[in-house]
Amino acid sequence: MSREQAKPHASRILAPTPETYRAAADLLQAGEVVAFPTETVYGLGADATNDRAAARIFETKGRPSFNPLIVHFEHLEAAAREVEVNPWAEALAKAFWPGPLTMVLPRRDDSRISLLCSAGLPTLAVRVPRHEIGQSLLRAAQRPLAAPSANASGKISPTSAAHVAASLGDRVPMILDGGDCEVGLESTVIDLSGSQPVILRPGGITRSQLESVLGSVEEAGAGSDIKSPGMMTSHYAPSLPIRLGATDVEANEALLAFGPDPIKGAAITENLSPNGDLAEAAANLFNLLHSLDREKLAGIAVMPVPQKGLGIAINDRLVRAAAPRD
Ligand code: TXA
Ligand code: MG
Repeated sequence: MSREQAKPHASRILAPTPETYRAAADLLQAGEVVAFPTETVYGLGADATNDRAAARIFETKGRPSFNPLIVHFEHLEAAAREVEVNPWAEALAKAFWPGPLTMVLPRRDDSRISLLCSAGLPTLAVRVPRHEIGQSLLRAAQRPLAAPSANASGKISPTSAAHVAASLGDRVPMILDGGDCEVGLESTVIDLSGSQPVILRPGGITRSQLESVLGSVEEAGAGSDIKSPGMMTSHYAPSLPIRLGATDVEANEALLAFGPDPIKGAAITENLSPNGDLAEAAANLFNLLHSLDREKLAGIAVMPVPQKGLGIAINDRLVRAAAPRD
């Protein structure tokens, strides 16, 4: 049965108890999503090391495109297992973690985090939340949790369990109730992966707080020629040309197939989902594009993916990947 046909879950708002944490950890380890409070806003959490679980987040939020996700850790040492921590990050972590600050850092080559969390970028956004429930959930789940704000796409971020239930209630199996969020505004996102620190999103930690640690810090946005995160994701593209909606393969093309009848004759074939399951296809998308993007091939032909449900986000990504390059 495909995810889209799966029965919606009844909303379950639960107070934090040892039993609730155990049940939440079981759900997360099984690849399900759990909504939980952080000091900023409620997050929609899933196992960041599991492609299917990360895809589940996009499916649950109904996001039209694969924005990169913030990955939450218990402490700096856990984050340092997945990203390259530089002196800026070390200094900021010392000053503001746990707390409402997210740092964008280069992924480590041996990172176990799903490529879907990076939306194809070479970086990963990492954060150590300070909320007791977020911390307890991370300890119980024993794995990093990818978590965007727990609202349906296009809606404002939830700062209470009731907001989450109103926005996503029947689509999340569990909402941990921590009352109202202390910060109520999303974390500040700072990009530390380039030649200078750049604030990508203002939030719970102010620019002057950051400057007290780093010295002067730039801000992306109006009047600045710094790329916004949205722009950055659109820069994601394999080095081979991409041909969409393929019904045949040309000489020396790789094939990114979808469904039970892959086109024959390609130099190499990878299948997004032999069963035609869009959640599986979303989970596989970035991995398979990477694995087909090899030298000595003429290009990547991509079979049509249905423009419905998660297929809309998959096609959005594929269109960006196929866009002309400069
Ligand atoms: O307070 C928060 O940050 C909440 C709680 C749950 O932690 N999360 C949150 O996530 O607001 P979300 O997905 O709604 O916003 C994530 C922001 C987006 O602006 C996204 O573009 C940016 O972080 N982002 C994530 N990964 C990035 C990356 N690798 N490079 C640049 N920007 C990134
Ligand atoms: Mg959001």
